[in-house]
Amino acid sequence: MKTYKIGSLPGDGIGPEVAAEGLKVLQAISDIDGFGYEIVDYPYSGEHYLKTKELVPDRMIEEWKTLDAVFLGAIGHPDVEPGLVERSVILGLRFGLDLYVNLRPIKLYAEHLCPLKDKTPDDIDIMVVRENTEGLYSQIGGIVKKGLPDEVATVVGVYTRSGVDRAIRYAFELAEGRKQARGPGQTAKLTMVDKANAIRPHDLWTRRFAEIGKEYPGIEKDHAYVDACCMWMVKNPEWFDVVVTTNLFGDIITDLGAMIQGGMGIAASGNIHPGKHGMFEPIHGSAPKYAGQNVANPLGSIAAIGMLLDFVDENKSAVRVENAIKALLSSKRIPSVDARSGLSTTEIGDMVVGTIREQAS
Ligand code: IPM
Ligand code: MG
Repeated sequence: MKTYKIGSLPGDGIGPEVAAEGLKVLQAISDIDGFGYEIVDYPYSGEHYLKTKELVPDRMIEEWKTLDAVFLGAIGHPDVEPGLVERSVILGLRFGLDLYVNLRPIKLYAEHLCPLKDKTPDDIDIMVVRENTEGLYSQIGGIVKKGLPDEVATVVGVYTRSGVDRAIRYAFELAEGRKQARGPGQTAKLTMVDKANAIRPHDLWTRRFAEIGKEYPGIEKDHAYVDACCMWMVKNPEWFDVVVTTNLFGDIITDLGAMIQGGMGIAASGNIHPGKHGMFEPIHGSAPKYAGQNVANPLGSIAAIGMLLDFVDENKSAVRVENAIKALLSSKRIPSVDARSGLSTTEIGDMVVGTIREQAS
């Protein structure tokens, strides 16, 4: 029996509650599809930091490299300096394991979840490939003369040709895969999103996109500056298929994307070094105000388990997760993807498990 070693970082706030439902779904699917797994628990979180003053120790990266995948709940604590633990855990994993692709599906499962007028599931099915290790997240920079009138704050946006190329290539391959999956005569489109008009170094992205694009004659190519991209995602989301973009822009447009697919509660994310390492998380934060109440919606976390299964090549299992979520949302048995669905966190997890079992029988 194939057995996977999965690191689990439930984290802060609603993280442990939603992660528990993700793991519940993993358990049910492993029974159905006959694979094994071992969970290795890690305590790193804002909560853990407050108790112990411990962030992620450097040696952890080597240990995490031995795992098949990492599953994360949410990180962030109101009593800890903003970003300290997020940088240690989330960016620590992304940079430490060189998870250069952040894959963020924006998929509308049921029309009533969409805040946009007259948009249906056919209109919103986008895959964002966010470069995940460079750009304005480089951590190069800082503040001098803090608090003085002439204080200076700088940050360096880092874009390497190899970093840009690997993200763009991944996105083209993904578009090829979508084209194949759609069948003969069908197309797929890749849109490059940058800001090369104002931030001239982004010309590296625009240029490499055009050059690498020549290797993919079957893929339709498009380009949008990030501000226009935000506008089109609201006005005509059906124009987007696969999107490739820089780290910060990917962060921003996927929050917008989460809203047009129903809300932060459904959006999932895969941080991937193809063929090597992967970390999977819901894109929502720790939402301290909902913590400990069993009201947070675990669908983002459950969808992240789906992406994790796809990453470890349990593709049939991944499709089960997606189909169950789709069935429960489109039938309105789960009426919303936020904390006001009227269902508890654990009830939603149970419903997903029940639906997966029904659909498998
Ligand atoms: C995300 C988050 C993170 C990011 C934060 C918590 C560092 O917003 O995963 O989108 O900016 O990437
Ligand atoms: Mg974000």
